Amino acid sequence: MTRLLATALLSTALAVPAAASELRDMALDYFEPLPSTVPQMADNRATPEKIDLGKALFFDPRLSASGVFSCYSCHNLTTGGDDNLETSIGHGWQKGPRNAPTVLNAVLNIAQFWDGRAEDLKAQAKGPVQAGVEMANTPDNVVATLKSMGQYIDWFEAAFPGEADAVSFDNMARAIEAFEATLITPAPFDAFLNGDEMALDDTQKEGLQLFVDKGCVTCHNGVNLGGNGYFPFGLVEKPGADILPEGDKGRYSVTATASDEYVFRAAPLRNVALTAPYFHSGKVWDLKTAVQVMGAAQLGEDVSDEEATRIVAFLDSLTGTMPAITTPVLPPETDATPRPSA
Ligand code: HEM
Ligand code: HEM
Repeated sequence: MTRLLATALLSTALAVPAAASELRDMALDYFEPLPSTVPQMADNRATPEKIDLGKALFFDPRLSASGVFSCYSCHNLTTGGDDNLETSIGHGWQKGPRNAPTVLNAVLNIAQFWDGRAEDLKAQAKGPVQAGVEMANTPDNVVATLKSMGQYIDWFEAAFPGEADAVSFDNMARAIEAFEATLITPAPFDAFLNGDEMALDDTQKEGLQLFVDKGCVTCHNGVNLGGNGYFPFGLVEKPGADILPEGDKGRYSVTATASDEYVFRAAPLRNVALTAPYFHSGKVWDLKTAVQVMGAAQLGEDVSDEEATRIVAFLDSLTGTMPAITTPVLPPETDATPRPSA
């Protein structure tokens, strides 16, 4: 009797519809699961010392001129790795021109920023520290700040052993990159790709099928479902200036090539359910609407309400588990620490 029951239970457990494995095989043609170890970065081995230092720097508001803004201010790791604002607020309460993308899994994008202007995270990290609307600091002042605290000197020397001048702006960026590389968030979709065909429910599976059939997958593919190619925003039909402001020409400002006007990096879609509002303008707050905007703008397709609901259910399966992060205790300032400026 017990054996019969066990056999019955086992066969129920194994009753995965054939369609699920076909769907999984198809998905594996387009997508990849996240790596199970910290991805290797160019010229920057992620050692535990470097990762810990990078974490401290990521959280430290003293990298900004005002002492108010840290990376974490705009890339809050408790709310999806972004700031959930239309466009970011930075130095002197200034509003920047673009929405902040998430830092989660960003190491796996082929290049950083909406227009891909930084080739990797270490090149990227030097930008916000100096940007007038973000942290408004200078490399010299950052290095003076870090060198004024003995604990930071020790941490840099442990992270960059044998280097004559370990506390440098470049090494700051390297350490931050190493920390960010640990921000990998495995999701139910990864479990599905790795063979757990029950990791997506039926609505999510239908959404995945639609995502492929409609053609979203043409631009949103690979490990981050995007973040790996550039496309005109408005390939088929240009959205209104409310969503695609005329002043921001995207990749054109990087390449100065006419065909790059209004070209942007296909947004990576991992954790997209956590990162409203959407698009580089941050003008769309609802994910379902964002999906319908994409259908019209990129594919010339009317995505119905029902279809958008299923696609959003699939996108929900990309919400992953954050690595556990203990907030660092930062070294206290000394008499030599440059004081915050307004
Ligand atoms: C973009 C990290 C500080 C707002 C990014 C990206 C990364 C990043 C990795 C690119 C993500 C991607 O392209 O997918 C950092 C680090 C910081 C920092 C390490 C500290 C050193 C800030 C601050 C603000 C901010 C303080 C807000 C005042 C933004 C915005 C973008 C961005 C608006 C998009 C800019 C564009 O595409 O032109 N950040 N960030 N970040 N971050 Fe930060
Ligand atoms: C952005 C989904 C089709 C290229 C986005 C965003 C979502 C999305 C939700 C916003 C993400 C964010 O702000 O973080 C979809 C869906 C599609 C689809 C569900 C199918 C219905 C496409 C296609 C292309 C494309 C076919 C390329 C031809 C882009 C680009 C962006 C983007 C370039 C960034 C736009 C910007 O600069 O704000 N997509 N997408 N997408 N997608 Fe798609």
